[in-house]
Amino acid sequence: MIMAWDFASMGNEELEATIERLEAEVAELKSKGISLDMARGKPSPEQVDLSRSLLDVLDATSDLHDEGADAANYGVPWGIPSAKRLMAAIMGCPEGQVVVAGASSLNIQFDCLVHAWVRGIRGHAPWGTLERVAFLCPSPGYDRHFAMTEHFGIENIPVPLEGDGPDMDMVEELVRDPAVKGMWVVPKYQNPTGITFSDEVVRRIARLEPAASDFRVFWDNAYAVHDLLDEGDELLEVFGAIDEEGGRDLVYEFASTSKITFPGSGIAAVAASAADLADLEETFAIERVCADKVNMLRHARYLPDLAAVRAHMAREAEVLRPRFEVVERSLEEGLSGIEDCSWGTPRGGYFVSFRGPEGSAKAIVSLCREVGVTLTPAGATWPGGEDPKDRDLRIAPSYPTLEELSAAMDVFCACARLVCARLERRGRG
Ligand SMILES: Cc1ncc(COP(=O)(O)O)c(C=O)c1O
Repeated sequence: MIMAWDFASMGNEELEATIERLEAEVAELKSKGISLDMARGKPSPEQVDLSRSLLDVLDATSDLHDEGADAANYGVPWGIPSAKRLMAAIMGCPEGQVVVAGASSLNIQFDCLVHAWVRGIRGHAPWGTLERVAFLCPSPGYDRHFAMTEHFGIENIPVPLEGDGPDMDMVEELVRDPAVKGMWVVPKYQNPTGITFSDEVVRRIARLEPAASDFRVFWDNAYAVHDLLDEGDELLEVFGAIDEEGGRDLVYEFASTSKITFPGSGIAAVAASAADLADLEETFAIERVCADKVNMLRHARYLPDLAAVRAHMAREAEVLRPRFEVVERSLEEGLSGIEDCSWGTPRGGYFVSFRGPEGSAKAIVSLCREVGVTLTPAGATWPGGEDPKDRDLRIAPSYPTLEELSAAMDVFCACARLVCARLERRGRG
């Protein structure tokens, strides 16, 4: 049976008695000596094991050529043909627009920032020489994105993230400032909310007319093929949308196989317009002779086309889906009816985003820690680690076992209930 935890409609006495009961519940959980870490969205060992046969794709007798390109030596700096085709298929863009470079898309994002900072995009002044450089940060968002721009001394400007993408009225207004040089986005199964941008939002991004002509959207399509259900979300392909709107050089798109095969040992790519790609390649050519092409070859032979990627991701989803179901069921059973508590029910990606009443997030994280469950720190999904309303939390269900996850969610819900009930009491003065 689902209890409706409607603290707001309780009389004072009932609320006091409920708080006492909830405190006893938390104390009992604490006495169990639980120790669980739900802080980061890593694939579970079960998931990673699904890619083990990738390791058997090449051996000492393998032909290390790929459509005329020698993967066993220097050269072919922008990626072997079959790896470009694979990454283009994942991103849904033409393979001629893709460079495959290394094992980490975050690395490439950093490289693109270095390019803009040190050399300047397409002949514009290097950002590092400017007095003020700002980036738009749809929030809640990905902490590592915000940390990266912060690292360069770039001003991160939070923009509210709605159910279908960033608040585009605000984005259109803010890009009129020539100091605004970019925007971070995770357009599909966003980290952490799991939302996918609507066609209208993608079109409005494609139509943006920023004051700075070296403004670029950092389109991190990290979860392009990470459906949990048979029917996944559809994201409008951004370069096609830009072409329809007149074809500006506006987007750097990124993706990797980190959460397809082996995180940290996959392959990663950037896609951009022909002119932007040529511009980026000038910096990449200084940085390296070429990337790890043997790993590209292994990946391209293991995942020869999009159908193979989809089949592999369906197996990944079989491992992940029950974990998301545990989280949804726990939240539904544990927190239904509490005023101002809401959460997403994503159809893909790696996270569930929870929003509590104002002033609740830090208290929930700290109480969970006392009981033995480590969550992503409150505020982490906002620029500077500062959630102005202290209410957003990221739940990462992928790594723990189902049993651990279920135990961790019991703790999460018990702590959230208590924090919300105490906030209700405080609100009454
Ligand atoms: C949005 C997003 N981008 C990038 C990454 C990491 O990508 P990579 O391993 O390719 O650097 C993650 C990992 O959690 C992510 O959530």
